[in-house]
Amino acid sequence: MPAKMISVTNQKGGVGKTTTSLNLGAALSIAGKRVLLIDADPQGNLTSALGYVSASLDNTLAKLILSAIDAPEDLEARLSRSTLRTESGVDLIAANKRLSDAAARLQVMRMSQYSSVNDAERPCEKVLDSVIEPLKGQYDYIVIDCGLKDELLTINALSASDYCIIPVQAHFLASEGIPEVLTMAPTVQARFNPNLKIAGILLTMYQSRPQLCQNVRSGVAEVYGTDFHVFERPIEYTIKIAECPAAGKSIFDYAPQKNAAESYRNLAREVMNLV
Ligand SMILES: Nc1ncnc2c1ncn2[C@@H]1O[C@H](COP(=O)(O)OP(=O)(O)O)[C@@H](O)[C@H]1O
Ligand SMILES: [Mg+2]
Repeated sequence: MPAKMISVTNQKGGVGKTTTSLNLGAALSIAGKRVLLIDADPQGNLTSALGYVSASLDNTLAKLILSAIDAPEDLEARLSRSTLRTESGVDLIAANKRLSDAAARLQVMRMSQYSSVNDAERPCEKVLDSVIEPLKGQYDYIVIDCGLKDELLTINALSASDYCIIPVQAHFLASEGIPEVLTMAPTVQARFNPNLKIAGILLTMYQSRPQLCQNVRSGVAEVYGTDFHVFERPIEYTIKIAECPAAGKSIFDYAPQKNAAESYRNLAREVMNLV
């Protein structure tokens, strides 16, 4: 079975995308799954949260995207060089600022699609898909951590994915409005990827008593409508999670006894049950 592809998206910063990508990946790995994480944010937060100095890395997602566009014959060799084996049990394709250059290259490709100059037969929205394709046989799950800017990178992530997970900060729920991705996903599905499904909304940084979870979850239905799944268990707020990136570890290695670790285990169970 080829890997299931999951994008973690919400074009809002600080909602827990990177934290979720890392800890969902780690939980799936602990459950015995082969996991690849892809850092698709030029900020490289996932890369540094796994203990790497992102600026010093040369073989990153940026080069893979550029290679897929301009030198596809080099892609396979590059892929093996670009897959890092992390101490958290997951593999990583890293990112740093250079990913913005690759995003700019995608933008040029998009412009030329509208002119008579033929950049490529492949649309600019499917480049990441072609990068990932050769890797799908090696993993059970591939999780993509999306950034904020560079909409084309997010569209590429969604175009390559079977599912997307949308983290939303529990305490901002009412004031937040509909995450943009809820409108972007159906467009991507119609134009580029009929397989894409919204796996659900994940409440993060949850600071209330567990008895109130139900209320918050029904609040999601009030705000966003009833068309979306809300993952069973919100991710609790804990300072230990905020400390993880500096330690370069997942919550399972840093503070496995915390509720938030159990919540990410629970999320992984739900993800493993996705059809
Ligand atoms: N459950 C949590 N409890 C406490 N802090 C959290 C939690 N989830 C995320 N954080 C912290 O909030 C900040 C933003 O989270 P992050 O995952 O980087 O969001 P995003 O990738 O959406 O920008 C980070 O400093 C992170 O450590
Ligand atoms: Mg992030």
